[in-house]
Amino acid sequence: MPPLRVALLGCGTVGSEVARLLTDSADDLHARIGRRLELVGIAVRRLNRTREGIDPALFTTDAAALVARSDVDLVIEVIGGIEPARSLILSALQHGASVVTANKALLAEDGGTLFAAAEQAGVDLYFEAAVAGAIPIVRPLRESLVGDEITSVIGIVNGTTNYILDKMDTEGAGFSETLADAQTLGYAEADPTADVEGFDAAAKAAILASLAFHSRVTAADVYREGISEVTTSDIASARAIGSVVKLLAICELSDAEGDNGQRRVSVRVHPAMIPRSHPLASVGGAYNAVFVESRSAGRLMFYGPGAGGSPTASAVLGDLVTVARNRVRGAAGPGESSYAARPVSPIDDV
Ligand code: NDP
Ligand code: HSE
Repeated sequence: MPPLRVALLGCGTVGSEVARLLTDSADDLHARIGRRLELVGIAVRRLNRTREGIDPALFTTDAAALVARSDVDLVIEVIGGIEPARSLILSALQHGASVVTANKALLAEDGGTLFAAAEQAGVDLYFEAAVAGAIPIVRPLRESLVGDEITSVIGIVNGTTNYILDKMDTEGAGFSETLADAQTLGYAEADPTADVEGFDAAAKAAILASLAFHSRVTAADVYREGISEVTTSDIASARAIGSVVKLLAICELSDAEGDNGQRRVSVRVHPAMIPRSHPLASVGGAYNAVFVESRSAGRLMFYGPGAGGSPTASAVLGDLVTVARNRVRGAAGPGESSYAARPVSPIDDV
C-alpha cells in the first residue's frame, strides 16, 4: 500500500516534537494505521534555524505550495495565529486533505468557517491539542458525552499562568522571572500576552463552550481578565485565608432562555481565590484540570499536562492516527452538531 503523505506547517515547540515522533514512532504508527506515514514537507518561516534530527531537505518557506500539493493526504497546522494559518487550513481542506490543528486562537475566532469547509470537502478537521495540551477533553465533549446534556465546564486551561501563579504561591517567585521560565520551557504562546492577559484561556473556553453546549461561542463572547494585575500581596492574602489564586475558565448553560427561546450560556475567564481543599487548588506547574458536569453522567474530571512540546505532540499524534485511519477506511470523523443560536451572557446574570 502506498504511504499516506503528511505536510507539517510549523516546526517550533510543538512541530519539532511532532516531526521527531513521526520519525521515531514510524513503525508503531504504521502498525496502528495500516499504512505508513510519509512526511513530505515542513513549512517554516526561517530556513536558517538549526533543527536537529530532521532532514533539511524537508523544509520550505512556501507553505501555500505545500498545502496545495495534490499528493498530500494529511496536513498538521502548528504555526499558530490567525493568518496565514486560516488560509493554509482552508486551502488544505479544499485540496482534499484532512487537517489536524492545535490552533485555539483561530478556532475560537473563525472555527465555523473551517468546520464548514471540512464538511463541504468531506474530510476531517481534528483539534484535540487546541485545548489543555495532552488532556483528552475535546473528544470526550465532541463524541463520548454528545448524547448527554452538559451543564457546566470549569477548569484551569492555561499552563503558563498556572505555572506562574503556582511558583508565586509555593516559592515566592516574581512574575517576570517565572514568565521567562515558562517561555523557556515552551509553555507560553509566541506572544505571551495571550497567556498572561487571558486571551488563550478565553479561546479555549469558547471552544469548550461551543462543543459542550452545541453552540457557536467565539473568543469575543467571553468575559476575560488575565493575571497581570495579580500581585504577590494578593497571593499572600489568599494564603492567609487558606486559599490559592487560580485563573479559571467557567462555561455554564443556564436554565433561562433568551428572546429566541434558546437557553443562554455564560463564558468567562478570570483569576479567582479558591480554598486549598478544592481539587483545582492542587493543580500545580503547567498542569491543567477540567471539570465537566452533565445531567446523566454527573461530574467528570480531566487532569494532566496542559502545555509544552511533548504533551501537545501526543494530542496531535492521536488526532493524526484517527484521521489517517478514517482516510484508510474512506470515512470521515464525527462531524459537527447542528448548532443552536444560544444567547451568550459573559457573566451569568440570568
Ligand atoms: P512556535 O512559535 O514555537 O512555532 C511556530 C512555528 O511556526 C515555527 O516553526 C515558525 O517558523 C512557524 N511559522 C510561523 N509563521 C510562519 C509562516 N508564516 N509560514 C510558515 N511557518 C511559520 O509555536 P508553538 O509550537 O508553541 O505553537 C504552535 C501552535 O500550537 C499554536 O497554535 C499554539 O497555540 C499551539 N499550542 C502550543 C502549545 C505549547 O505548549 N507550546 C500547546 C498547545 C497548543 P520558524 O521556526 O522558522 O520561526
Ligand atoms: N500557551 C498555552 C498554555 C499552551 O500555556 O496553556 C497550551 O495551549
